[in-house]
Amino acid sequence: MQVRLAVVGLGNVGTRFLELVQRKQDLIRQRFELDLIVTAAGDTSGGAEYFKALDIPIILALKQSGKGMAAYPTHGRGEMDMVELVRSCNADVLVENTLTNLKDGEPGLSTMREALQRKMHIATANKGPLVLAYQELFALAKQQGVKILHSAAVCGGLPVVNIGRRDLGASDITKFEGVVNGTTNHILDAMAHGETFDAALKHIQALGIAEADPSLDVDGWDAANKLVIVANACLHRPTKLADVRVEGIRGVTPEMIAQAKAEGKVIKLVARAVQARGAWKLTVAPELLDAAHPLASVPGGYMGVLYETDINGQIFTRIHEENPYPTAAAVLRDVINLYTQS
Ligand SMILES: NC(=O)c1ccc[n+]([C@@H]2O[C@H](COP(=O)([O-])OP(=O)(O)OC[C@H]3O[C@@H](n4cnc5c(N)ncnc54)[C@H](OP(=O)(O)O)[C@@H]3O)[C@@H](O)[C@H]2O)c1
Repeated sequence: MQVRLAVVGLGNVGTRFLELVQRKQDLIRQRFELDLIVTAAGDTSGGAEYFKALDIPIILALKQSGKGMAAYPTHGRGEMDMVELVRSCNADVLVENTLTNLKDGEPGLSTMREALQRKMHIATANKGPLVLAYQELFALAKQQGVKILHSAAVCGGLPVVNIGRRDLGASDITKFEGVVNGTTNHILDAMAHGETFDAALKHIQALGIAEADPSLDVDGWDAANKLVIVANACLHRPTKLADVRVEGIRGVTPEMIAQAKAEGKVIKLVARAVQARGAWKLTVAPELLDAAHPLASVPGGYMGVLYETDINGQIFTRIHEENPYPTAAAVLRDVINLYTQS
């Protein structure tokens, strides 16, 4: 089966997604009988579309040389926004990886609405539209008979959403806890090893893992975004950002970290959803964890989550993720799952 992709957003994640589509093409054909082709692609410069398939190496070479899709030979068009691109292209799936924008979700939100109206599935790592309009987008997808998969939006390659939504489908999740922001976890770990806050942030930015706006990470908003998505997707609770009490790591000093270390403890930025007397309490805050706590074993470079459930016991899982490839691989996993899972 041929699957036509419209790939919008060609930064850290989008370009690596294209690399993986190319690298894994034969395996995906053999294992899943899916032939993934890119019929449209767009960035801030504009877009290109071609019903027979754009050439992935040409797109990657353009991006590597600092150019955009407007410069794509013959088919590139500047002055084209992503809604127009989706409206005019022939594609089955919108792969949306533009930047997370918490103000109005754009450009992702409008592009996703347009794709759903056109009965396209969506695979995305972009948290903005999900955080601002989760219930609306999923209602529209249901009405249009298409799917939205976003496992990459929560801890990149770690299948947090897949576990919570699919594998714990018959469970009541009683508690969710996670070290879900790689940037702050790296900074806290590096500070415990004597590095300064600023040097640690610069290092993680160079790896392409930090949000374009690092205050999203440092002030706890990225972790809160992920908690909102988990609450909507896995706890089945319509949730907005305003439902989460958020505190970042700016108040954590080297002295506090040293004191924690001396006591055999660690400070982690923990995202937590816990049921108390029938209501959910959602928080993101730095916490002092005992060495025995599973999340204490999530060092810099890792992210991890813990689910407590009524019938599935306690599940703890973590990932080592130090570049954007696992996130790109998660977007690819979602594209495949659109066609191979009910
Ligand atoms: N990086 C990670 O490890 C990671 C992990 C999990 C989730 N995510 C999420 O994945 C998404 C992408 O992250 P990233 O690191 O790849 O971001 P990025 O490197 O900043 O890339 C963003 C892409 O979006 C494009 N873009 C921005 N505004 C646009 C507009 N108005 N119209 C069309 N295209 C536009 C940019 O175009 P130009 O190329 O022309 O600038 C760029 O290609 C974000 O939502 C992020 O939160 C990232």
